[in-house]
Amino acid sequence: MKPIDLRSDTVTQPTPAMREAMARAPLGDDVYGEDPSVNALEAAAAARVGKEAAVFVPSGTMANQIAIRLHTHHGEVVLAGAGAHVLRYEGGAASALAGVQIATIGEDGLFAAADVRAAYVPATNVHLAPTTLLAAEDTHNGSGGRVFPVAVLHEAVRAAQELGMRTHLDGARLFDAEVASGVAAAAIAAPFDTVAFCFSKGLGAPVGSVLCGPRDAILRARRLRKMLGGGMRQAGVLAAAALHALEHHVARLAEDHARARRLGEGIAKLGLCVDPEPETNMVMFEFADTMALLRATRARDLLVNPTGPGRFRAVTHLDVSDADVEEALERLADAVAELRG
Ligand SMILES: Cc1ncc(COP(=O)(O)O)c(C=O)c1O
Repeated sequence: MKPIDLRSDTVTQPTPAMREAMARAPLGDDVYGEDPSVNALEAAAAARVGKEAAVFVPSGTMANQIAIRLHTHHGEVVLAGAGAHVLRYEGGAASALAGVQIATIGEDGLFAAADVRAAYVPATNVHLAPTTLLAAEDTHNGSGGRVFPVAVLHEAVRAAQELGMRTHLDGARLFDAEVASGVAAAAIAAPFDTVAFCFSKGLGAPVGSVLCGPRDAILRARRLRKMLGGGMRQAGVLAAAALHALEHHVARLAEDHARARRLGEGIAKLGLCVDPEPETNMVMFEFADTMALLRATRARDLLVNPTGPGRFRAVTHLDVSDADVEEALERLADAVAELRG
């Protein structure tokens, strides 16, 4: 039986065309700034999100953590949406590497200007840790790939900036937000000081993310990348895959979103709660006995991720076809039927 892997959009294999682009890539030593493929990718990525400059890094985690280091000092507080990736899934890096605390605001990864104002702490009170950075996430992974409504997001960013805070957008899946909302990535990212996005998720590249922002900030980011061990040498083989992904795999995200909707409908028809309704490429669903469902799906070569007791995530991506979605639904139906006796 062909395995169907719906755990994440990070599991994709490079396409033959992407592998060809990797094989053809002109290379140099990127720590010397001499890799033409990395330089081309950084220029294209910065332009695509409307920023002056970009730095290519191995992961979304590194992009976010460099941004936090750039914008904060030890002992300060970063405001982020509930369930933010920078808080929950980056190994405690914000506290370990930047020495900051993260306070969450709003619900389901979304927040409003009023939440920012209510949580704001100025640097003038010696007893309190000042809030100096707002970090938003779009789409929001923990809440099931939700798109942050852009007007609400920008109002919150404006409120933060009026209070003197810096702003960073964790756009690991920014192009899912672009495709789902019809608002260009550059327009979504416009008011933010920095924006990170990943090539290795829905865009289907094997490795890599970028941090984009003003030229001087990205220059400082390069030093931070070196400090973190993220200076890569002939990284153009990876940059070529990333550039191929940016040029060829953005519009097709709409297919992933349509498949996620179909998958969500099919799962709901099995009598399982699907919540929220899929907005992009993620389907969150429930089944009370977490371990039993994991075992039963795995036995049928169907892989999904548990996200909490009785909660699961299934993600559509480049390597999941319409037929795979139908087959996944059949295998899930069979697993559920077995468990219901
Ligand atoms: C919203 C978000 N930000 C950042 C990351 C980190 O990316 P990486 O796994 O490349 O470190 C992820 C990974 O899934 C993510 O979902």
